[in-house]
Amino acid sequence: MIRLDKLLCHAGFGTRKEVKKLIRSKSVSVNQIIVTKDDVKVDENNDWIEVDGQRVVYCEFVYFMLNKPQGVISSTEEGPTKTVLDCLDEPYQGLFPVGRLDKDTEGLLLITNDGALAHHLLSPRHHVNKTYEVHLSNPLTSDHIRKLEEGIMIDGGELCKSASVKVLNDHLIHLTITEGKFHQVKRMMIACESEVTFLKRLTMGSLVLDETLKTGEYRPLTEDEIKELKNAQH
Ligand code: URA
Repeated sequence: MIRLDKLLCHAGFGTRKEVKKLIRSKSVSVNQIIVTKDDVKVDENNDWIEVDGQRVVYCEFVYFMLNKPQGVISSTEEGPTKTVLDCLDEPYQGLFPVGRLDKDTEGLLLITNDGALAHHLLSPRHHVNKTYEVHLSNPLTSDHIRKLEEGIMIDGGELCKSASVKVLNDHLIHLTITEGKFHQVKRMMIACESEVTFLKRLTMGSLVLDETLKTGEYRPLTEDEIKELKNAQH
């Protein structure tokens, strides 16, 4: 059982305040009976809930894949700078990005309200692979590649875990890492006497960026994508 106002917030009908107003304005019915009290408890799986005659289907967790554009920050805090949550039209409460991409990084960002899955994907213990498309100012030498594969030292003291490198051309590589240190890819490339000129995340665990999403666009994950991510949790 769950409070009706909480369920409606979750289902995207607005903030708690807005939802309470909706209930008081007699727009909401539970099993065909208009409800005017917001603290009423409902059975989210069996009760038939309608808002202005439209069925409300409750789902506890939601998952969106965003192709993050440059210029937005991976934060949930409202402020002068646009955040990744501002890229969504969804009014769901409690959404957050799973991990951070720099303001000038593009690509795959999972946005959800599933804290357990986020914890799994971000926990250093689980070594979840993340692949980045990395554009470089200077080509990598074979010595750099060996160091990246063995585990490179960044900023003269922090040792990275072994990464895998696929060289596409002198100025473009795919780099797969299992950690999420601050500015990690950029610092790894500096340690290779190069600089990142453009960075885009392509994968996170089993999740692969849907290349039909233009930057700034998003879509819900498919059932299969959710299943695969969750399978890796166990
Ligand atoms: N590494 C970086 O340097 N920046 C990102 O945004 C992600 C990984």
